[in-house]
Amino acid sequence: MFTFGVDYYPEHWPEERRAEDARLMAEAGFNLVRLAEFAWSRLEPREGVFDFEWLDRAIAILAGHDIQVVLGTPTASPPPWLMDRSAELFLVREDGRRATFGNRREYCPNNPVYHDYTRRIVTQMAEHYAGCPSVVGWQIDNEFGARCFCPICRTAFQEWLRRRYGSLDELNTRWGAVFWSHEYTGWEQIPVPVETGGSPNPGLALDFYRFASDSYVDYQRMQVDILREKCPDHFVAHNFMGFGYDRIDYFDLARDLDLVAWDIYPRGFWDVRAEVEPSGAALSADTMRGLKHQNFWAMEQQAGPSGWETVGGTPRPGELRLWAYQSIAHGADAVVFFRWRTCRFGTEAYWHGLLDHHGIPGRRYEEIRRMGAEIKRIGEQIHGAAIKPEVAMALSYESRFAFQIQPGHPQFSYAEHFRHIYRALHGRNVPVDVVAPTDDLSSYSLVIAPALHVLSEADVGNLARFVEAGGVLVVTSRTGVKDEHNAVVNQRLPGLLAELCGVVVEEYDALPEGECNELEFVCPGLAGRDASASIWCDVLNSTGATVVARYAQSYYAGEPAIALNEVGAGRVVYVGTFGDAILWSTLVDWLIALAGVKPLLAAPEGVEVTERWQRDRRLLFVLNHTAEEQEVVLDTAGVNLLDGGSVVEGAVAIAPRDVLVILEEQQEEEII
Ligand code: GLA
Ligand code: GLA
Repeated sequence: MFTFGVDYYPEHWPEERRAEDARLMAEAGFNLVRLAEFAWSRLEPREGVFDFEWLDRAIAILAGHDIQVVLGTPTASPPPWLMDRSAELFLVREDGRRATFGNRREYCPNNPVYHDYTRRIVTQMAEHYAGCPSVVGWQIDNEFGARCFCPICRTAFQEWLRRRYGSLDELNTRWGAVFWSHEYTGWEQIPVPVETGGSPNPGLALDFYRFASDSYVDYQRMQVDILREKCPDHFVAHNFMGFGYDRIDYFDLARDLDLVAWDIYPRGFWDVRAEVEPSGAALSADTMRGLKHQNFWAMEQQAGPSGWETVGGTPRPGELRLWAYQSIAHGADAVVFFRWRTCRFGTEAYWHGLLDHHGIPGRRYEEIRRMGAEIKRIGEQIHGAAIKPEVAMALSYESRFAFQIQPGHPQFSYAEHFRHIYRALHGRNVPVDVVAPTDDLSSYSLVIAPALHVLSEADVGNLARFVEAGGVLVVTSRTGVKDEHNAVVNQRLPGLLAELCGVVVEEYDALPEGECNELEFVCPGLAGRDASASIWCDVLNSTGATVVARYAQSYYAGEPAIALNEVGAGRVVYVGTFGDAILWSTLVDWLIALAGVKPLLAAPEGVEVTERWQRDRRLLFVLNHTAEEQEVVLDTAGVNLLDGGSVVEGAVAIAPRDVLVILEEQQEEEII
């Protein structure tokens, strides 16, 4: 069964409304709701007094319409009676100021008292709902995040360091604590990198960011363990924030979970752009799928204009359905919309649901009801279908953390660099997996590893194995600069990857904002193309690689900027600059040709094409993100599942913001 649902807050509305809500939900085709993830003050109204009756009644009404339930543990929004116990329950922000009551996500993830209350509410809920036939799974907390710099975290950080380094001598050496006389003679002297401490030691700061990430992984595991013990038949998930969120190592956070759930708002917070860039949600979806190398749930799929204090742009007719199909096209096996009805009060009174404040169904409800009917018909044929790209991009949270500490250039953003490359692939309809640098790469032909700044022996070993097996690897500037303690390596760059790349960086030049250095391509296939280097220029010296492009300007005019190294059956391309969209657009054409990767389909701009595989049957998704009718030329025949019509090779029109889901004709099995 394909899960199609909505996030529901019955506690925000009079009880008399619930039957009508459930009826309208069923009519929209919803078979699941997420409940209770912010309802702590109703579930435990006073310390130690638990009340599940209201939730039981809500679940029973939904069950009457065959609507199942995912329950959220409510720990993202602790009630005042709990937070009033002690100021220490609140997290301390990077500026050194302690949070106060009034929002959510304001707790310290290492506070032992908070842990006790967490264990108690989670245990109570788990015991109460273990046998409830409507409940299928759990979402832990809500969108983990925010580093805490409080004294409790400081002590826990010191313990974490003791386990990591064993001795202060080792720690002082790895961090280079001799610099500015930071050598520690007691663990309790070690600070946390709050702003009042100024620019921190990079080794200390990177370890603290790792520790802060681990804090949420550990806090989540505490809840996972309870739920697994009490509710062995239920799945356990957490709702992640896509590619953009960079304070937790999402690969680590996903490890203890059964599935990754994702919150997706293509026309996001206070966003009033006329056009939404489809590659944004696509990259996030591919990242979410990569965390566990499995399909994911869209747990909060945009249902209306977003907004807290101000209102973002209204999704155009067709966009909500289109975006939901985009999630599915990238591997969602469930779509749950956020939220059912727009709340009349509270901080999110302008974050619109499917129904407006008044609760009367309108355009958005009708659009999703239409989709619900489609999903009922076709969901089973899509559910579980796999995505099998030939291209991977390696995402390193370690490097991301390190760049937060020392970006190296005021205009450099790891995320933007990553997006530039992804966007070029996406624009050609080349499917991409986003993977960790140490993941198994054997199924890919092309792996792009942007700015692997913090590089380990394990990363290098894995990348080398991929190249030796015949793969094409792409490495970019600022790779291999740091060891795992965030100290600069004692080697010529790109450090541990220099040999594989067949180049060394002789010098580098940080370019002023807006300044470029023209590139002159000297290799067949690229000669004559225009592109330029920006932000950063590595001046390369080949130790075996063939020059692909040279700089045309400045004192290093004529020196190599991009080079290609043949390694056994494989190849490594070193791109010594970050460059602009034009550079990556140019390079991507050449790189996919080099790796023998073909785009799924040539399509007009704004038309996205993806594929999923139901065993050996191919499903082709064609999504028209534009406001005009578009035409694509299909190279296959099949059935458009959405209307049951057959499609044949050749031109097919696709209406504005419409979708085709083509189940390819079964290839006749050869009879021998
Ligand atoms: C000043 C200080 C040095 C060094 C340099 C570079 O000149 O005296 O110790 O910090 O700046 O930052
Ligand atoms: C996030 C949260 C939701 C809600 C929405 C809209 O995705 O998970 O609880 O706050 O944003 O703001």
